[in-house]
Amino acid sequence: MSFDKEYKRRRTFAIIAHPDAGKTTLTEKLLLFGGAIQTAGAVKSNKIKKSTTSDFMEIEKQRGISVATSVMTFEYKDLKINILDTPGHKDFAEDTYRTLTAVDSVILVIDCVKGVEEQTEKLMEVCRMRDTPVIIFVNKMDRDGQDPFDILDELEQKLGIGVRPITWPVNGGRDFKGVYHLLEHKMNFFAVNKTKLEEDIFEYDLDSDVLRSKIGDKDADQLQEDVEMIEGIYDEFDREKYLSGNLAPVFFGSAVSNFGVMELLNTFCNVSPLPISRETDIRVVEPTENKFTGFVFKIHANIDPRHRDRIAFLRVCSGTFERSKFYEHVRLDKKLRFSNPYMFMADTKNVVDEAYPGDVVGLYDTGNFKIGDTLTEGEELQFTGIPSFSPELFREVVNADPMKAKQLEKGVQQLSEEGVAQLFIMQPGNRKIIGTVGELQFEVIEHRLLHEYGAKCRFEAKPYSKACWITAKDADKLAEFIRLKNNFIAYDKDKNPVFLAETDWILRMNMENNPDIVFHTTSEFK
Ligand code: G4P
Repeated sequence: MSFDKEYKRRRTFAIIAHPDAGKTTLTEKLLLFGGAIQTAGAVKSNKIKKSTTSDFMEIEKQRGISVATSVMTFEYKDLKINILDTPGHKDFAEDTYRTLTAVDSVILVIDCVKGVEEQTEKLMEVCRMRDTPVIIFVNKMDRDGQDPFDILDELEQKLGIGVRPITWPVNGGRDFKGVYHLLEHKMNFFAVNKTKLEEDIFEYDLDSDVLRSKIGDKDADQLQEDVEMIEGIYDEFDREKYLSGNLAPVFFGSAVSNFGVMELLNTFCNVSPLPISRETDIRVVEPTENKFTGFVFKIHANIDPRHRDRIAFLRVCSGTFERSKFYEHVRLDKKLRFSNPYMFMADTKNVVDEAYPGDVVGLYDTGNFKIGDTLTEGEELQFTGIPSFSPELFREVVNADPMKAKQLEKGVQQLSEEGVAQLFIMQPGNRKIIGTVGELQFEVIEHRLLHEYGAKCRFEAKPYSKACWITAKDADKLAEFIRLKNNFIAYDKDKNPVFLAETDWILRMNMENNPDIVFHTTSEFK
């Protein structure tokens, strides 16, 4: 197949959701449609069920499972669809944010009982930063949930995005009768796990007698009323608005019953974007360019501690990636080649000879990669836009075994390059401050330092609650601020200065008193 055909059939996306909304279940149903798996239950939830854990096996399992399910690929209607998995646990949310830089669109799953939840809002914030197109699936319609119009209002208000229903539920909970496709005028009657999926979906006018006899007069009247209301309130679905991240088509269904998923998948195939162009520090890279480029958005350590190699996940952005060809590692100015690049199909992984824009390849890494690194055919460019966000918990790493200082140094450095947590250095004394969004990250670090690097450490709590990257137009003013606030200044992995604030109030005071200094809550600023 030609390059053009190959790239045009790629669709690369992530499913995002607040934990428990049904991300894993929906992923599994999509893979079933694509024939990538044969039975339900094949996709393991990558959730850590316990929130406090001294049971490190859970963490090990988490790491193992998420390597296997990091990327899942399936074929459907001539398309090659790549689903990039994101960790379910909120303590690993940073990993999710980074994965979102490697996709071209997302499907957001909402629980119809709970509506928009905390993690949903955060994830959408990241999508909005780069205008990622979003399709919304309102799940669990077999449960008594909120009124669908209320859900739509909540989505618009809390997520700051326009919505347009494409399917519409007839009742919900125990009386859930199915979904009506508003554009195709087809009714899909609710049943658990319909075996023949095309079966039993008919085209009906809203006042059709057959439809009335099937769902009853009351529900038929309600449906008619709802549809009139939808047509009055919401504009027609506009693909351009969806592609620019301003309008989300909305579907209703029940993932666990495999219901309403096909409508979602068909629309996804029709409207979702091809691999998109991407920004670098010097120019925009188009996927159709002849020369290969790509960037690393995720690094996974080998689960076997005796082998300290890692897998770097590379998103192909342009051209064709070829096995065993030399590529330029731009940051290190070094030529590298990969003789066993992997691609992932549901639960298996295969060595690949070629990969195209939109694809994700797993590269064995012996310590060359950091998150955000760029590979090219020689051009000196770096992909931009892999964000770091302010952590919420800060602790200083203290060496607990003086004989193993070197091991600790190396371990902390490598784990932060993998993105396990953020590392900040404070002066004097090169003190290492680890910033995380959750307790579990500290446990993972302590465990891995000991088991993979033989280094023992303790954590000393620090009173900070926010890290802000600081810049100023006037370099002298920045230097002066850093000098005055030295006790609260640290440097991130790229040696950018960061102001550590103990409370929001202190941060606000510092902002007010220092109008020449700009405080950024993410590292992604221009
Ligand atoms: P997550 O990855 O977003 O965290 O969610 P996951 O798919 O694991 O689903 C969370 C729970 O919600 C699971 O139940 C799952 O079976 C259930 N669920 C998913 N879709 C639906 C749906 O459409 N309707 C209903 N009623 N439930 C749904 P669990 O009890 O936590 O796990 P399990 O033992 O059933 O696997």
